[in-house]
Amino acid sequence: MQIWPHKHIHTLANFSINDYESVFELANRFDALKNAGTKKIPALQGTLVTSLFFEASTRTKNSFELAAKRLSADVQTFAPSSSSLTKGETIIDTAITYSAMGADTLVIRHSSSYITFEIAKKLDAINAKTSVLNAGDGLHSHPSQGLLDIYTLIKFFSQKTLNPEVLNSKKILIIGDVNHSRVARSNLWALSAFGADIILCGPKTLIPDEFINFLKTPDPNQTEDPVKSRGSITISRSLEESIKIADAIIVLRLQKERMMENLLSSIDSYSLDYGLTPEKLSLNNKEIPILHPGPINRDIEISSKVVDRYPNCLINNQVANGIPIRMALLYLLQKHNK
Ligand code: CP
Repeated sequence: MQIWPHKHIHTLANFSINDYESVFELANRFDALKNAGTKKIPALQGTLVTSLFFEASTRTKNSFELAAKRLSADVQTFAPSSSSLTKGETIIDTAITYSAMGADTLVIRHSSSYITFEIAKKLDAINAKTSVLNAGDGLHSHPSQGLLDIYTLIKFFSQKTLNPEVLNSKKILIIGDVNHSRVARSNLWALSAFGADIILCGPKTLIPDEFINFLKTPDPNQTEDPVKSRGSITISRSLEESIKIADAIIVLRLQKERMMENLLSSIDSYSLDYGLTPEKLSLNNKEIPILHPGPINRDIEISSKVVDRYPNCLINNQVANGIPIRMALLYLLQKHNK
């Protein structure tokens, strides 16, 4: 395995191909151990993983906590509503407090984009050993979701052994509210790193034309792109035309509050134009894989018939794959700090 270079994980924009491969190789090993009956291993015994979720979560929070337990780490869970946040303590001071209690890794979700950079900077300034792992910050980034999504696709397309190169030149269609999606942004970095050609499909209000230049926008403090050559991004306004040529589809959750912001004329018209149904899927002559990061709005962005009956709907595979991926991330951060 390659040397792991990151003390903190904020984004996939600064992941090299080696970084992705380290994560996938480890996740695959943890997966194989689980399939052979070894669910729990002592790899992180004596370490402390703290989950600081300032925003709701079902999948990410529980998956990170389970991943930490499978590695035998101690797990500490923060509950914002019963914490001293209610007395006015800041988020940064909350993070510093958990670091002082001995947290090796803080897994953080928050509604503010880039807040994990700020927290990590403060911790580094006081020479804390604690790592910060972004579990979703505002619209910016959701790296563990991006990783588990492409791991799921790679597993689907690989023959016998896991081979990330299977994504090269694959046409991956992402449908929906890209502009407000940290998942989509992480998917764009991850998919393009392995040469996938991405089609973004949705109305202009949810996917502005400027999104075509997304991969040219570096993250804070990032001087160069660690990936030499990336796949392309195109934008389509026709779901039917996009489905015809897609090798895989990622459906995004429609954030219903967008209607209140006048970005959509109605939920029904969005569903009619961009909701994924078996009828629209039949325009593609293969049974292509369908992903959705969850939580889903049934019969709005995706039909229940697709979720429950389409053979290659991989939503539950994504959830299951989240555990070994998050085990790999926690393990790599801990090893970096040794
Ligand atoms: N995909 C995802 O982030 O789901 P949760 O909000 O349930 O964690």
